[in-house]
Amino acid sequence: MRLALIGFGNIATTLLGLLQSTQKFPLENLTIVSSPGREKAIEAEALARFFDIADTLKVVSTTQDLLATRPDLVLECASHTAVKTHGVAVLAQGVDFVLASIGALSDARLELDLIQAAENAKSRLVLPAGAIGGIDLLAALRPAGNLQVTYRGIKPPNAWKGTKAEAQLDLESVQEKTVFFTGTAREAASAFPKNANVAATLALAGAGFDQTRAELVADPNAAGNIHEYSVTSPLAHYTLRVENQPSHGNAKTSVSTVYSLLREITNRIGPLAI
Ligand SMILES: NC(=O)c1ccc[n+]([C@@H]2O[C@H](COP(=O)([O-])OP(=O)(O)OC[C@H]3O[C@@H](n4cnc5c(N)ncnc54)[C@H](O)[C@@H]3O)[C@@H](O)[C@H]2O)c1
Repeated sequence: MRLALIGFGNIATTLLGLLQSTQKFPLENLTIVSSPGREKAIEAEALARFFDIADTLKVVSTTQDLLATRPDLVLECASHTAVKTHGVAVLAQGVDFVLASIGALSDARLELDLIQAAENAKSRLVLPAGAIGGIDLLAALRPAGNLQVTYRGIKPPNAWKGTKAEAQLDLESVQEKTVFFTGTAREAASAFPKNANVAATLALAGAGFDQTRAELVADPNAAGNIHEYSVTSPLAHYTLRVENQPSHGNAKTSVSTVYSLLREITNRIGPLAI
């Protein structure tokens, strides 16, 4: 496989470590897309840590140079800006694009542009489950309609520091589980962009950004990042709760996200897709 990763932070480096330890054969090519000016530093680190991961390894910073490496699959694990910068061109080239920064799709214009580019070029915009699970069932129930989905993002008060939660709550003195935001998934994604990925994933799999309800909660007893959602549909009802471990490189990112992205790759190169 000719794989391209946009970003070389926590998700990308953890993912490359997992690929290194789980894959029998090296990739044909690995391209890493860095921010402009960081190519040399990232190339040196990537070659030192992941020299055996692919027959050839390149670091680029422009969409044009990325596409010149003829990737089979491009996986974004960087930022909303990276989705905006590279997404449409990658899909328009007929290359499948896997997004980690799914919250970027709360921008309705960007979502439309990406889907149109994929439609025209017969490529696919792939939205992995990331930090949440049960997306297969939620997406399967969607065609039956009448879906009601409520998402709850629960974190210890300190984990909400630096967000708009500070305007609602004195985070230092929260003594009990407190809901500080209730709204639609679109409102949650726009007010809390760094916590938007799960709400956005559920919205896109299920009832849409404007019909999916979201609640954000500060809970002094929460052990880590908890994502919980309930679904009511004419076909089935369920509630799913995931208590995630943070990843070593970025406490905001649940480590299961990296494994979800690994699955997107192995499902394309292994003999079995599940
Ligand atoms: N889908 C999910 O459930 C889920 C869960 C966790 C994180 N995420 C998202 O995944 C993304 C990466 O998370 P992370 O933990 O690796 O973060 P990180 O900050 O550790 O790494 C991101 C890296 O991408 C680089 N970067 C940013 N913009 C770039 C650009 N335009 N071009 C190239 N490189 C760029 C940064 O310099 C950084 O090194 C974030 O957007 C995060 O919101 C999604």
